Amino acid sequence: MSDLKKIGILGSGIMGSGLAEVAARAGYTAIVRSRSQDAADAMVAAMVKGLAKQVERGKLAEDERDAIVGRVSATSNLGDLVDCDLIIESVVEDLDVKKTLFSELDTVVKPTAILATNTSTLPVIELAMATSRPDQVCGVHFFNPAPAMKLVEIVRPLTASDDTIAAATAFAVACGKDAVEVKDQAGFIVNALLFPYLNNAVRMSEVGVASIADIDTAMKGGCNFPMGPFALLDLVGLDTSLAILDALYAEFRDPNYAAVPTLRRMVAAGRLGRKTGQGFFDYAR
Ligand SMILES: NC(=O)c1ccc[n+]([C@@H]2O[C@H](COP(=O)([O-])OP(=O)(O)OC[C@H]3O[C@@H](n4cnc5c(N)ncnc54)[C@H](O)[C@@H]3O)[C@@H](O)[C@H]2O)c1
Repeated sequence: MSDLKKIGILGSGIMGSGLAEVAARAGYTAIVRSRSQDAADAMVAAMVKGLAKQVERGKLAEDERDAIVGRVSATSNLGDLVDCDLIIESVVEDLDVKKTLFSELDTVVKPTAILATNTSTLPVIELAMATSRPDQVCGVHFFNPAPAMKLVEIVRPLTASDDTIAAATAFAVACGKDAVEVKDQAGFIVNALLFPYLNNAVRMSEVGVASIADIDTAMKGGCNFPMGPFALLDLVGLDTSLAILDALYAEFRDPNYAAVPTLRRMVAAGRLGRKTGQGFFDYAR
């Protein structure tokens, strides 16, 4: 099913910008909404810069780059999403913020629009029930960086219709991704399995078993992982990682999901990983 044409994206952070690029590359018109026009414009400017680098490296033709850029616009006005067929919410991992946004969105966009969330762990049903169209709400969980990562988890809350799940799956496939369907349960497939590992890596460094650099080296060389747990936490963002662990713990009460103190302290200190230039490792900004 490919009668979705215009995609709205809420949030201009790491994932919002990646989603805009993915949708535009696949030929969809994409409009990104951020709370401030400056942030939305900065996101598009960063995307244009990234695409220019790909042109320089010979990985993207200039006319293709121009076509992708021409399909992306930015706004701070939620009302500009009125004619979108699919809206993907990708703002901060906070249930109350997302619920408020879903109920607001529901009053603004056309009745046929599908409302999706890119949440990593939060209950999609709560977002569905914040709208008047719970049958048209689902999760489309892309991975970071969205243009490069192959997987999308299509999350089915109890209320979603088969048409909604089919349309979201078709969208993911049209974006060149592998789609898997999963029940609306915290962490879905990947994060439910991944985060105990990441959390336990931090615990291992807390008790002094090995340095963070050596733990990363060990997991890359010993398991053939492309990056170690600390580099991955920095990439995901430590605030997002903490929110994911808290949501997993709230759902399952499994000690493996109880965020270790170091992670919480680093978030309190504003060391959020790559996006702030400092996390477990330092990044030149
Ligand atoms: N970072 C990852 O690896 C990753 C991967 C998959 C999914 N996700 C999910 O994507 C979503 C966004 O994560 P991100 O990594 O892009 O985060 P980010 O911190 O890079 O961006 C968060 C965005 O939310 C906006 N925001 C913050 N508070 C807000 C509010 N009160 N109202 C409206 N907007 C607000 C910010 O302005 C920013 O645009 C989260 O649900 C996260 O769980 C993240």
